[in-house]
Amino acid sequence: MIVDNKVVVITGAASGIGRALAERFVKEGAAKVFIADISEQKLKQVAEEVGATP
Ligand SMILES: NC(=O)c1ccc[n+]([C@@H]2O[C@H](COP(=O)([O-])OP(=O)(O)OC[C@H]3O[C@@H](n4cnc5c(N)ncnc54)[C@H](O)[C@@H]3O)[C@@H](O)[C@H]2O)c1
Repeated sequence: MIVDNKVVVITGAASGIGRALAERFVKEGAAKVFIADISEQKLKQVAEEVGATP
């Protein structure tokens, strides 16, 4: 998938499919990956680990 110059927003990104997608979009070079989740604490940790923006 070509994600150059794309901004990605993922909800439910603190675990499972959402987290995996966030990690992949960052690795694929998306312009920006925003992540959200009902669990704020887990979200911040995942954001640091995968390089996305909470
Ligand atoms: N894992 C699979 O193989 C699979 C297959 C088919 C469908 N699904 C469905 O896909 C969805 C995600 O699955 P998963 O395995 O990644 O689950 P998961 O429980 O690992 O992840 C779900 C994430 O969504 C967050 N969340 C829950 N309610 C929220 C809300 N109101 N706002 C924001 N974030 C919220 C949770 O905190 C959690 O981080 C589920 O609905 C599941 O039934 C999963």
